[in-house]
Amino acid sequence: MDALGREILQRLDRAASCSEPGPGVTRFSFTREHRAVGSLIEEWMRRAGLTTRWDDAGNLVGRAEGGGTDRRTLIFGSHQDSVRNGGRYDGMLGIVLPLVCLETLHAEGLVLPYPVEVIAFSDEEGGRFTTSLLGSKAVAGGFDPAVLAMQDAHGVSLEQAMREFGADPGGIPALARGPEDVRAFVEVHIEQGPVLENAGQAVGVVTALTGIERHRLTLTGKASHAGTTPMESRRDALVGAAGIVLELDRVCRETPDCVGVVGELDIAPNVVNVIPAQARMTLELRSPDDAIRVDARERILAQARRIAEMHGLGLDSALVYEQSAVSCAPWLIGELGEAVVAATGEQPRELFSGAGHDGLAMARLTDIGMVFVRTPDGLSHHPDEALAAEDAAVAAAVVLRLLQRFG
Ligand code: HGY
Ligand code: MN
Ligand code: MN
Repeated sequence: MDALGREILQRLDRAASCSEPGPGVTRFSFTREHRAVGSLIEEWMRRAGLTTRWDDAGNLVGRAEGGGTDRRTLIFGSHQDSVRNGGRYDGMLGIVLPLVCLETLHAEGLVLPYPVEVIAFSDEEGGRFTTSLLGSKAVAGGFDPAVLAMQDAHGVSLEQAMREFGADPGGIPALARGPEDVRAFVEVHIEQGPVLENAGQAVGVVTALTGIERHRLTLTGKASHAGTTPMESRRDALVGAAGIVLELDRVCRETPDCVGVVGELDIAPNVVNVIPAQARMTLELRSPDDAIRVDARERILAQARRIAEMHGLGLDSALVYEQSAVSCAPWLIGELGEAVVAATGEQPRELFSGAGHDGLAMARLTDIGMVFVRTPDGLSHHPDEALAAEDAAVAAAVVLRLLQRFG
């Protein structure tokens, strides 16, 4: 098993080289880096005995028809894309690990008695176009064509990026699977938090995934001389943004089960002696309880309007992404738990996911389950994100037993 763990990490190291220059991994969707990692994944899919195809949402789909009479597909998968300067395991582990497991069975001449797929989803993070789950929503049937007009930091629209990548957005509606054709979706993912490390366990079984929403705000004030403009007559967009940042932090700190962040903030003209005329920022809120998240949103946006008025600022805000919290299927939690017991001899640790995953989208199509793998220091979305080969080996043992249990 340890050989599998080492093979998984070696492949993840190779995949990490498909990145923009700079610390960690930066691999956005519909880029040359996406194409490069796709070539590696296609090689690994073929070695696992899978056929491969790129779909019109930029997903790379590996499939083996298998034998047997139950023709519903067991789908594994995760996302190929990363955050900027992120880690090499977030997403890619859920593509590489199942492929290494399927290659192991294929090498032994074993044919599963059901169809199986591994999907490398094109865009889960939303690092380039802010909205996310693009690839899994296309497969699950929740893709909103309105997002095609969204632009990246260079003014390239999602539609243009897709077409230049060789994907045809017009073909996306046809990608939606029928629930009757799918048995379940299982994602293997690093935990990205401290729970498994604190518990001293290599793997865990996920019970539910957090709900997430993202807003884009633009505050518009007036540029003027930083030395001669009296304080009382300034319309400083950054002061307004700062007030909103502190309000979000205050509301989330005082609201149990609610977290939030302003992850992006740009000001213009961004000059040392000029009063900021514009501030553009993102607001992100998460909660396992959708009502808590929406209430926090209303409180923060109401205060944002008051702050804008107080400082004579224009305020535009748009909800650009909203995903409800999702529960994993109890039967699949049980199956994964049994696989953990068989693979480790330990009782499975069940845990909630504060991170979003492609399962949020796939839950619209089919029952979902997730296996979390220990994350040293709980550190993720960071160049120093880590994964132990022996923990990858344990997760592979769990997946191999799951594949057998479905037989
Ligand atoms: O943001 C998240 O939770 C995930 O990493 N996309
Ligand atoms: Mn991530
Ligand atoms: Mn992820």
